[in-house]
Amino acid sequence: MSEAQAKTELDRALALDIVRVTEATAVAASRWRGRGDEAAADQAAAAAMYRELARLPIQGVVVVGEGEENETPALYIGETIGAGSADGLAVDLAVDPIEGTTLCAKALPNALSVLALAARGSLLKVPAIYMDKLAIGPGYPDGLVDLDASPAENLKALAGAKGVPVSELTVCILDRPRHSKLIDAVRAAGAALRLIGDGDIAGVIHVTEPLETGIDIYMGIGGAPEGVLAAAALACIGGQMQGRLVATNDELRSRATAAGISDFTRKYAMQDMIRGDLSFAATGITDGSLLEGVRLGKDAVFTHSVVMRASTRTVRWIRTEHTDIGKFD
Ligand code: FBP
Repeated sequence: MSEAQAKTELDRALALDIVRVTEATAVAASRWRGRGDEAAADQAAAAAMYRELARLPIQGVVVVGEGEENETPALYIGETIGAGSADGLAVDLAVDPIEGTTLCAKALPNALSVLALAARGSLLKVPAIYMDKLAIGPGYPDGLVDLDASPAENLKALAGAKGVPVSELTVCILDRPRHSKLIDAVRAAGAALRLIGDGDIAGVIHVTEPLETGIDIYMGIGGAPEGVLAAAALACIGGQMQGRLVATNDELRSRATAAGISDFTRKYAMQDMIRGDLSFAATGITDGSLLEGVRLGKDAVFTHSVVMRASTRTVRWIRTEHTDIGKFD
């Protein structure tokens, strides 16, 4: 087997291995569901994710992480992780041990554990600032919607392509005061709104299955790290997404400057955020519209995950019964 073939085989195997990482992370987080302690939940989940990643035969570098090196003990941007030797698979890691920390702490729907593993240098490196996001599902002409167009224009274009009136479209937006104008504009255009409290990776993924989720388009400002992870998911399932980095105060601006980002006018297409093959995995922590949450039994733990790969567009839904529950301690 040539070196290139060996790497491809390893890469394929890793596509399944990464789900073990999100499973263990979700189980660790699930023990903090509904306990009102976001920091403890996050810490437990990050420690579990670090531990599992450290076992993989990779040379991983965190490019989308929990924060800067001095802000977080594990999974900081730039941290190297993995058991790979010098010639191990060199990969970028985008991690979110708990997407929806508040959802987990309050035992509300849609908290997920999320991970993307990509060829080295292929993920957009973003600090913990914001991103304006626009996403639609697969099957539409390229460039149908655009961040520079108004909400009304985008909704009209999408409705036309879908063959329905704008009143039959539903837009998913994070329920935040910063979105009051956007919300008014969507309502004025005649579309319905699904306002979510947290969790815009799931919000974006929902646009890929409008018949099941009832959501046609995602709009608005959320976390930049979550934006890259959402783009990673769409790269595997299909769909379109654009993002524009946003830093709303001095702290976020200096974070961006430290990361070498100064152009807040640049529009990132999906290909600017995801420049190569990748695998994406997510496991439910709490029950949600994408995935069921972890079930903790006396003799077994049950998890529900999705793992997908961009180059092959394979999407696997995995229900796992873990009877060797000691491995989670
Ligand atoms: P955390 O899990 O880091 O709390 O993120 C939850 C989330 O809702 C993301 O899905 C979203 O991108 C971001 O927070 C929005 O940030 P903010 O709560 O500051 O509006």
